[in-house]
Amino acid sequence: MIFSIGSIPERKRQQWEGHVHTVALCTLSKGLTCGKEDIKMAKGFTISRVGHIGIQVTNVDRSLQWYRDVLGLTVTGRWPMGENGEMAFMRFTDDHHNVVLFTHPTRITDENRHAGYNALQHIALEVADRDEWLKALADLKRKGVEIVQGPLIHGPEGGPGAGRNFGGSGSRSFYFLDPDGNRLEIYTDMMKVPEGEQFPRTEYAEVFKK
Ligand SMILES: [Fe+2]
Repeated sequence: MIFSIGSIPERKRQQWEGHVHTVALCTLSKGLTCGKEDIKMAKGFTISRVGHIGIQVTNVDRSLQWYRDVLGLTVTGRWPMGENGEMAFMRFTDDHHNVVLFTHPTRITDENRHAGYNALQHIALEVADRDEWLKALADLKRKGVEIVQGPLIHGPEGGPGAGRNFGGSGSRSFYFLDPDGNRLEIYTDMMKVPEGEQFPRTEYAEVFKK
């Protein structure tokens, strides 16, 4: 997780990250905390996890091949969508799908290809541990994937660079792009914030102050 608060609306970012905060008061970028008060309105039910993501792509063939060959996803199936579009269901677990590729509804031309139609900030894929994370980094580099940010540790204890972000999650991460420029993150070791607690805990909150 990276706290690029200004790039997408805060509410949308929190939903993507699997949180159910009412986030108007949750201003991590200003160094405040997200406590119990923020989640009262959202506790009518419990969300298990972020189950899958849908990505609009300009060329389903190209992206399917990339997600299959670079990230190792399995194709569950692909179906037509509308008159000219299609969707491709892909997975990295035993779920029917974890990632779905959709033909982008806007006709892509050379002029608008990089016009910022994509509202997605990034998609984070978790791996089990540091060893698996390093294996992922090595594997992607071997496949010629450009690492556009990192490898780094998101945390004040992580030193300069991104580690200066207040409220860092402590996760090790790096970022790269899919064929349409969608930003992907592979990470591990994100710290937990158990129900009823807040980050940073009061007993160590002072250590984050510069
Ligand atoms: Fe992230």
